[in-house]
Amino acid sequence: MERSLVLIKPDAIQRGLAGEIITRLERKGLKIVALKMLHMDKALAQRHYAVHKGKAFFDGLVNFITSSPIIAIVFQGENAVEIIRQMMGETDPANAHPGTIRGDFGIDIGYNLIHGSDSLENASKEIDLFFSGEEILDYDREIDKWIS
Ligand code: RTP
Ligand code: MG
Repeated sequence: MERSLVLIKPDAIQRGLAGEIITRLERKGLKIVALKMLHMDKALAQRHYAVHKGKAFFDGLVNFITSSPIIAIVFQGENAVEIIRQMMGETDPANAHPGTIRGDFGIDIGYNLIHGSDSLENASKEIDLFFSGEEILDYDREIDKWIS
C-alpha cells in the first residue's frame, strides 16, 4: 500500500478550498493516516523543494509556500502517488484538465493549490520531513474491503 504526501497550499487555505480538496481525495477511497496544520518556515520549504534550488522560480516558490499556513496530509492507498498526481492535474492550472483540482480551481502556476509527491521515493522523503513515525496512524476502515 502506497503513501503520498499532500500539502494543501496557502492559496487553497485562504480561499476556503481545504475541505473541497480533502473531500475529493477521501471520496476517491484514499485513507488519511496523518494530518496537521502548520506554517512552514524557510528552512523546511527549502528542504521540501530542494530539487528546484537554483531555478528562477525557487525564491518565489519558497516565499509563497511560507506566506500563510498549510495543511500537510499523508494519504494511503493502492497507487496513491500516481492517483493523487492525476487528481491534481498539470502543474500549471492553465493546462490542467477540468475535473482535476488545479483544472477546476486555479488559473496561475504560482497558485496551484496542492502539492502531491511525484514518486514513491520522494513520497517517503517528504513524509519524513513533515511527520514523525508516531504521527502516522495505522488503522483499518470497514469500507477498505470495498475499495481495493
Ligand atoms: P508541487 O511540487 O508543488 O506538487 O508541483 P509540481 O510537482 O506539479 O511541480 P514542480 O515542477 O515540482 O514545481 C514546484 C512548484 O513550483 C512552481 N513552479 N513555477 N514559474 C514556473 O515556471 C514554475 N514552475 C514550477 C509551481 O507552483 C509548482 O507547484
Ligand atoms: Mg513537484
